[in-house]
This record gives sequence, structure tokens and C-alpha cells, in this order.
Amino acid sequence: MTTTDDLTTTEMRDTIHAVTSTFDSTFTWDYERTRIPLSKLYEKAKTSQWNASTDLDWSTDVDPEKVASELGIGTSDRFGVLRDYPNSPVKHFGDKEWLEVAVNLQCSLLSQFLHGEQGALLCTARITETVPWIDAKYYAATQVMDEARHVEVFARYLNEKMGRQFRINDNLGSLLDDILRDSRWDITYLGMQIMVEGLALAAFGLMHAITNEPLLKKLLRYVMSDEARHVAFGVLSLQEFYRELSVAELRERQEFAFETAARLQRRFMQSEVWERMGVNPAEVARILDEVNPPAQQQFQTMLFSKIVPNCKKLGLIDAGDGWLREKFTEIGVIQFEDWADTGEEYELLDEVAKDRSA
Ligand SMILES: [Fe+2]
Ligand SMILES: [Fe+2]
Repeated sequence: MTTTDDLTTTEMRDTIHAVTSTFDSTFTWDYERTRIPLSKLYEKAKTSQWNASTDLDWSTDVDPEKVASELGIGTSDRFGVLRDYPNSPVKHFGDKEWLEVAVNLQCSLLSQFLHGEQGALLCTARITETVPWIDAKYYAATQVMDEARHVEVFARYLNEKMGRQFRINDNLGSLLDDILRDSRWDITYLGMQIMVEGLALAAFGLMHAITNEPLLKKLLRYVMSDEARHVAFGVLSLQEFYRELSVAELRERQEFAFETAARLQRRFMQSEVWERMGVNPAEVARILDEVNPPAQQQFQTMLFSKIVPNCKKLGLIDAGDGWLREKFTEIGVIQFEDWADTGEEYELLDEVAKDRSA
């Protein structure tokens, strides 16, 4: 095992990544509990804590190849097009290589979940400092603990069960940096709680529905019930704040939401996997863009099933001249606008409480 003392300065530089930012750490002397929905959410968070060490069965035997093939991401028609494309860079791949692609993809996806969770940990620590309302500070503090637990479980699963880990994807990394660089407290919320966590909630849900690996399934089920609260926290807080903003200020938020959505879509090119397979990622991305297989379209669209209704609940879709409605229509995700928003559905997703009462 490597300890910090064993690392050279260069390695340390690669191991840590600093984001410079200027923001106000805000005290409030108003301790009155006036925000009832946030208060309720905070109570829920206190009773729904779980312990990653004891609530999950880490003695479960996991076969990485089985997990990866089950999820089918290496062999589905999403990649069938790559195999069949004229002069494809993966033409020479046989079953062995495709299985390797599948394991790498699964590990890469879980690694991005892991790094995204650390982003959430930093963002909620930030929100605890910057949000001006006491009820929100209380709640954000519980989320810091939740996110630490999520980083813990994904790191442990990758390390002990899958045996490999990937660096953070460039698109996700730069997005997290930009969210943390912004000094406006509501932008931390909008970027993390609504956009990144909204997408994560949908992505966890898809993986949870497909996998039969019991440890991963339970881990995702528990993480998702925390995430539903986190997204609800964003919806309940920003709903109040955005009511007070001018059309011009709202337009800035609409643009930020759309730009973030576009960057999250690009996250799924998974160039790090192709690099590891010795294939030029740009070439793969070009083919997938050109062919745009239905499975890929469907998958990317589903990822917006939480973001869009939550943006609507915040009033962002139709604010001003409805700029965001137009944009979401252009990228083909507006059909989710009337799906359940997470501000309401979080209570139904409390898996920890369900298990305890059973
Ligand atoms: Fe999380
Ligand atoms: Fe979260």
C-alpha cells in the first residue's frame, strides 16, 4: 500500500488537483426554522443514514466479466456498429477483446461515478458554507456525509471487486472544475444538485435495473435513495431563489443549464476506454457520431429524464422567452418535462427505510 510519504512531488502533483476559487463563506444569524420542506428533508436525511461497512455484504464474490457482460454495454448494438463499420479501428477485435472492452467500460463508468461523487462531496461542503439559509446549511451538512459514503462505496467496489480504475474523463473533470470555480452559490446547486446529480440518479437507475450482481444492486439502490434527497434539496432551494430573479438573471441560469446538459452528453464518449484498448478514441467518437445507433440515442435521452422535469419545476424551461424549452426541444429531451420531479418523489425512493421496516 502506498502512503502519502512514499509519493514523490511529481506523483503528488498528479494525485491532487486544486481548483482556485473566490467565494463568500456566509454566516446567518437567523436561526428561525422557516423553510418547512427543507426541514422535513433534513429530518429524513438523519433517519436514512446507512453504514457502508456494515449495511453492504462485502464478502460477496464478484466476477467482473460476468457483471460487464450482463450490463451488455460491450456487445450491444451500440458497439455492433463499430464492428461492422468499413475500415473500423476495432475490426480485428474478437470475443476476447470485446469482453475486455465490456469490463473496461463498466469500470470506466463506475470510475466516473466515483469521481463525480467526490465532486458532489466538494460541492456540498461548499454549499454548507455559502448558502445563506440555516435550514439549507443543516441539510447540506448531511449531504456531505452522504457523499463521503458514496465515494467510499464506489472506491471500494472498484478496488476490491473490479480490480481496476480509470482517471476522470476530461469532460466531466472540466465540468466539475467550472462548477467549483463559480462564485455564485446557486450555480453550485444548479450545476451539481440539478444537473450532475439529476443525471447520476437516472444513470444509477439504469444500471440498477439491469445488473443482477447483488452487491452492486444493493449499493446502487442505497446510493439512489440518498441521491433522490440531494436532487430534491436542489429543487426545493432553487425554486424559492429563482422566483426572485430577473429575466436577465434567469437567462444566465438557462444558458448554464443548457451548456451543462450538452457537456454531460459528451461525457459518454468514454475515450479513456478506447485509449486503454489501444484504439484512437477520436476515430471511435467520429463513427458513433456519424451512425448514432438507436441504443446510444435511447440511452443518452433517458439520462435527461430527471433533469428536464426538475428544470421545469424551477421555472427555468419557460422563463423569459422560453429559450430553454427551445434548446431542450432541439436536443430531443423536452418530452420528459411532465415526468415526476424529484422534489416530490424522493420519499418514495427511501430504500433504507423500506429495508429496516421489512
Ligand atoms: Fe452521491
Ligand atoms: Fe448526491
